[in-house]
Amino acid sequence: MTDPSSDILLSRKTIAERIRELGLRITADFKESDSLCLVPVMDGGMIFAADLMREIPLPLRVIPIKASSYGDGTTSSGTVKLPGGIPGDIRGCSILIIDDILDTGKTLETLRKIVMDAGADSVRTCVLLRKESAGHLLADYIGFEIPDRFVIGYGLDLAGVHRNLPDIRVLKED
Ligand code: IMP
Ligand code: MG
Repeated sequence: MTDPSSDILLSRKTIAERIRELGLRITADFKESDSLCLVPVMDGGMIFAADLMREIPLPLRVIPIKASSYGDGTTSSGTVKLPGGIPGDIRGCSILIIDDILDTGKTLETLRKIVMDAGADSVRTCVLLRKESAGHLLADYIGFEIPDRFVIGYGLDLAGVHRNLPDIRVLKED
């Protein structure tokens, strides 16, 4: 069992400050858009998206998409599953996909394609964390660059557990 007292990588205060900055940038970039739609990636992106959207004082819709690639382990399976497809009509929308972390990039790549195929007008991506392992892969908005370690908390899980930790921590057994 993971010890939830493992080292804090990013404190809740640091996360909240960075999310305010991201919110300001996103608000400025989308202020002319009348069809902004946030697409949080469930389950990991739920807490980040919930906090971020309250820092974006624009009219917007929220259409969460369920995606999973990790199964119960600490390395990506490489296959991204979208069990529910896209639960809404996103034709003509300016989409901002919001995920917890950019690792191999498979999740964002798969979602970007599916969202464009579903008729979105444009797609941008936002991640709270970008791991070193992402190499040259980028998102349009990135909260923090982090080392290639398995992290938990603030929405990030290990086999479904630890999403509720308020800070982001490095998994102790890692
Ligand atoms: P990618 O498709 O390899 O970029 O992986 C992205 C997904 O893998 C994220 O949405 C997370 O759910 C999960 N993931 C990647 N790294 C971690 C981690 O360190 N902790 C928890 N989940 C992770
Ligand atoms: Mg996940």
